[in-house]
Amino acid sequence: MSVVGARPNFMKIAPFIRAIEKHNSISDKKIEHLLVHTGQHYDVRMSQKFFDELNIPPADIHLEIGSGTHAEQVGYTMIALEKVIREHKPDWLIIVGDVNAVCAGSITAKKEHVNLAHIEAGLRSGDITMPEEVNRLVADRLADLLFTPDKISNENLLKEGVSPERIKFVGNIMIDTLENEIHKAKKLNPADIISENILFTEQEIPDITPLNYIILTLHRPSNVDDKEIFSQIIYFIKNEVSEKYPVIWPIHPRARKRLEEFGLWNEIVALKNILLLHPLGYHELLRLNMEAKMILTDSGGLQEEATVLGVPCLTLRWNTERPVTLKKYGGASVLVGNNVERIREEFYKTLSEDRKPTRPELWDGHTAERIVDVLVNYG
Ligand code: UD1
Repeated sequence: MSVVGARPNFMKIAPFIRAIEKHNSISDKKIEHLLVHTGQHYDVRMSQKFFDELNIPPADIHLEIGSGTHAEQVGYTMIALEKVIREHKPDWLIIVGDVNAVCAGSITAKKEHVNLAHIEAGLRSGDITMPEEVNRLVADRLADLLFTPDKISNENLLKEGVSPERIKFVGNIMIDTLENEIHKAKKLNPADIISENILFTEQEIPDITPLNYIILTLHRPSNVDDKEIFSQIIYFIKNEVSEKYPVIWPIHPRARKRLEEFGLWNEIVALKNILLLHPLGYHELLRLNMEAKMILTDSGGLQEEATVLGVPCLTLRWNTERPVTLKKYGGASVLVGNNVERIREEFYKTLSEDRKPTRPELWDGHTAERIVDVLVNYG
């Protein structure tokens, strides 16, 4: 049984399900799989769209948790999942990434004496104020199998005293999806993506050609929940970034809500060089990322994709749980925090940089197959 809840989970579960199907087609030792969706992300554009385009079979069980505080989301998920686990008695519960479903799933599985496996284990930002870091710590303390995406994650786990037999270095499952889907993304036309997703349909769309636009995504509470911090970022984007290049901004529901609450919405809606889009599908965003001049983001997944695509990326955070994506480890991204001086300095420096695609070890598109192999041969 695997549990998903929020957008970044869907790209990670798709290859896992495909690897199970592949295994079942050639082996007598069949795996029976149930997919549970907690319902943390429920908008069509945040959830169903990804199921459709990544060919994820419909979830077998919906918990319909919806939005709420962290305690509400984790608590309601635990209550609902406990019933599901008692009814179906899975041999394994699989959790992916660092969203609230990961925390809820870990605790519930172990209290029900079910084996637990964490895909994308061992990532550490070192910042315990991030809700995702709390989720990671809980999951990795409890999981029987820890599937790590890179060797730095192995070291993090060993330092925390995890026994080496529990750690399985399998690579980055996100890259399985990128490999599987990139040919579909390449067929899309950037101008169509923009006109189909633009929030203000009357807005005039500037010419979008390769390497002449910037992609922006923001959703972390540390950037968007504080009025002062968010305003400074907005003014920088408005006064400097969008003066140089069109800025394409697929806007996350949390960021949009905050802009409206802080009275910043009107600052950006009328600007001709900032294109506000609905949240995009996987192929759409991948297509736009491929030819972007630069990506400005606080998303972990985009940092990883930028590294493989070689697109210079400014990460608007002070820390990252994915150091392997940083330039100093051979990646494409640089941490700029949310201080405008720092963002500005790196922005202008990065404008003159060349693209340099890189592949950390085992980011080869076969991570899910390795995971299924370990699970089948466990014990
Ligand atoms: C969650 C994850 C984060 C992940 C991100 C990707 C946790 C702790 N955080 O953050 O790791 O990077 O998703 O998107 O699990 N909302 C909608 N429609 C939706 C979903 C959410 O309008 O389909 C609204 C909610 O009402 C809420 C806000 O967006 O006000 C934020 O949603 P929330 O579930 O709190 O977490 P994210 O910020 O999306």
